[in-house]
Amino acid sequence: PTYTDYFFDEPAYNTHDGGYVPLEEPQTPQQALRIPPLLKPDKETATDTYYTVEAQAGETQLLPGAKTKTWGYNTTLLGQTLVFEKGKHMHIALKNSLPELTTFHWHGLNVPGPYTDGGCHAPVYPGETQHIDFTVDQPAATLWLHAHPCPSTAEQVWHGLAGMVLVTDQTEAKLPFPRNYGVDDIPLVLQDRRFHENNQWDYDADYDPDGVQGPTPMINGTINPYFDVTTQRIRLRILDGANRREWRLHFSHDLPFTQVASDGGVMPEPVQFTHLMLTCAERAEIIVDFGSVKPGETVTLYSDDVPIVRFRIHDYQREDVKLPDHLVDIPDPDVTPNTPVRKVVMSGMDEQVMIDGKKFAMQRIDAKQQVGNVELWDVTNTNEMDGGMVHPYHMHGTQFLVVSRNGHAPYPNEHGFKDTVGVNPGETVRLKVWFDKPGVFMYHCHIIEHEDGGMMAQIQAYTPEEPNKTYKLMDMDTL
Ligand code: C2O
Ligand code: CU
Ligand code: CU
Repeated sequence: PTYTDYFFDEPAYNTHDGGYVPLEEPQTPQQALRIPPLLKPDKETATDTYYTVEAQAGETQLLPGAKTKTWGYNTTLLGQTLVFEKGKHMHIALKNSLPELTTFHWHGLNVPGPYTDGGCHAPVYPGETQHIDFTVDQPAATLWLHAHPCPSTAEQVWHGLAGMVLVTDQTEAKLPFPRNYGVDDIPLVLQDRRFHENNQWDYDADYDPDGVQGPTPMINGTINPYFDVTTQRIRLRILDGANRREWRLHFSHDLPFTQVASDGGVMPEPVQFTHLMLTCAERAEIIVDFGSVKPGETVTLYSDDVPIVRFRIHDYQREDVKLPDHLVDIPDPDVTPNTPVRKVVMSGMDEQVMIDGKKFAMQRIDAKQQVGNVELWDVTNTNEMDGGMVHPYHMHGTQFLVVSRNGHAPYPNEHGFKDTVGVNPGETVRLKVWFDKPGVFMYHCHIIEHEDGGMMAQIQAYTPEEPNKTYKLMDMDTL
């Protein structure tokens, strides 16, 4: 079937928020979509890769006239794209050239917490460099890197600290997917900003405890982008990199498209849509086939009714690729016997947001789970449908499976690994969760202002050998 709806509950869309900022089509000239360059390793051997990731401040030409002050990783805005090959050992120097503390969080990456994972307990102070290393231990996927210092994650991401991370492996490499980076395999970071005087951003002026928004779509750090399509099929690795905005995506020509991967990698089966909604931090890899479109035409990608990217179709070589009905096997491990179902409650809006009735405390461990145990987590959003909102629930340190939504089947594109799931008001989403690596990991709403506002908790994943291992946890006072 080809699904034609957004699945999520319409009354909970952000368009109904009191503070909703509608997107507006930019009136500035179209520009070529920026493609973040691939970051060159400092050194590479058959088994090891060495990278330096530098958080830096700079200026970016986003609009005609003055440049905008922006932050980025190895570039002035967003980041150069990192490629992690499964099985390889990575060594990463994390360099902070910003005027303030930051952290380097690998969203979706299966690494130990809390220091390698890079949440709030892994500060890198201005002028310092920290080193992490880990073995890439998960299937091919589109992940991302973003700043995560508490409580200024949202502001640092708004400044531009968000980069793409592509995990590659042999299984994905055998599938008939486009994978020529920048040509037919394109990252698409969806964000929104408001430009103030002199083309500058002003986070404080735009602050909203329910998530900062701006009217101008910014795609890969490009305002009003077009992309020149030179192949029949393209693969878009879409990331909702916005602080708060939901994206409701559809193409002109009612062009259907096929989702082949979710947050944690390739899905068991491809799913065809005409419409796709992403909540904050979710990723979707989609393949778009322009075979029905004539060269010379333009296909527009919209969010709601606002154009966000124009795909200019050029001459292309005809191809006739059929995706297999089955793409990959997703393991579905049995729940560990005698483990009660965990309950997580996301409540409130604005400053009232909480998890399990509490605000985040950096030194408090809220839950423990043994590494390797497979447990059910029931995540509930207690907002009222009327006036409530979808909270995108994210966990560090794991790629989980979505078991059900209020006892019903998950959405058709939720059968693969996920690390973020949008929970509707009044809904309980049941997850199957296990940790491979020990450490302290955060779980939170990924409306980033909600996370900074305390809608966050943390879990210690422990090994039987070290059930009470202690970690040095940051404190607000030590910031
Ligand atoms: Cu994108 Cu705490 O994460
Ligand atoms: Cu994360
Ligand atoms: Cu939230």
